[in-house]
Amino acid sequence: MPRPRHWADDYYGDLYYESVADLLTARMSGFEAGVLRQLLELGPRDRVLDLACGHGRHARALSPEVGLLVGVDRNPEYLARARHSGAVLVRGDLRSLPFRPGSFDAVYSWYSSLFMYDDAENARCLAAAVSLLRPGGRILVHHDNPLRLNGKREAQDAWDLPSGGRVEETSVYDPGTGRDSCTRRVIRADGSMLAGVAHLRYYTPEEWSGLAAGCGLEILRITSTWQADRPTERLDDDAPDLIAIGRRSA
Ligand SMILES: C[S@@+](CC[C@H](N)C(=O)[O-])C[C@H]1O[C@@H](n2cnc3c(N)ncnc32)[C@H](O)[C@@H]1O
Repeated sequence: MPRPRHWADDYYGDLYYESVADLLTARMSGFEAGVLRQLLELGPRDRVLDLACGHGRHARALSPEVGLLVGVDRNPEYLARARHSGAVLVRGDLRSLPFRPGSFDAVYSWYSSLFMYDDAENARCLAAAVSLLRPGGRILVHHDNPLRLNGKREAQDAWDLPSGGRVEETSVYDPGTGRDSCTRRVIRADGSMLAGVAHLRYYTPEEWSGLAAGCGLEILRITSTWQADRPTERLDDDAPDLIAIGRRSA
């Protein structure tokens, strides 16, 4: 049965790609891949899954270093852009992943790509991702930092695109629901316009404990890209992002 239409169906097409493609530089993606490598302790024989891999910017950096890198995403155009990443690419949905339980040593989801639905569905997406790990395998989930957003609940931004277009966005974070609503417009150089709203859910460290308990996940660390090298620090309220690392219980 077809699923009801959801904001992500419209948001993750040309609107998202055109607005971020030149911001997500190879240098930034390489840095983030280094954080993934370090925190997941990736090794040359590991079977690794990039959940919602988009245009393959992390898969490209990591696939030469591991035994197998599989990238899954729902958008066929993004997957086409990932085709020279060295990853095995699979078109699939986070809500019904087409892999056998226990198939991977490590799973990651970067850039607020796992929690797009209501809390029950988000918990199911996390549980499904954890079930793909072998016992003892590691998962890393990256999203914006709700502690930082709580201190600055509204933000506006605008930037020019190399194509001559412009992006404008307004974000409003609601600490009651833990959801950030980001309204974004791309005004292209030819005057045509794309627009959409994303409603992303960011979980606090305390909420992560509850999420993990529900799906056989042992949280190893809640950190940020700023603090990846400092294992004893608690998540900084001002850090730009939150990274949860956990291990599937045996
Ligand atoms: C913010 S992008 C991040 C992509 C990539 N992780 C990165 O950091 O560049 C979110 C990704 O989630 C994908 N996506 C959205 N809903 C999905 C779903 N239900 N199943 C699989 N992928 C989905 C989009 O197509 C998009 O590639």
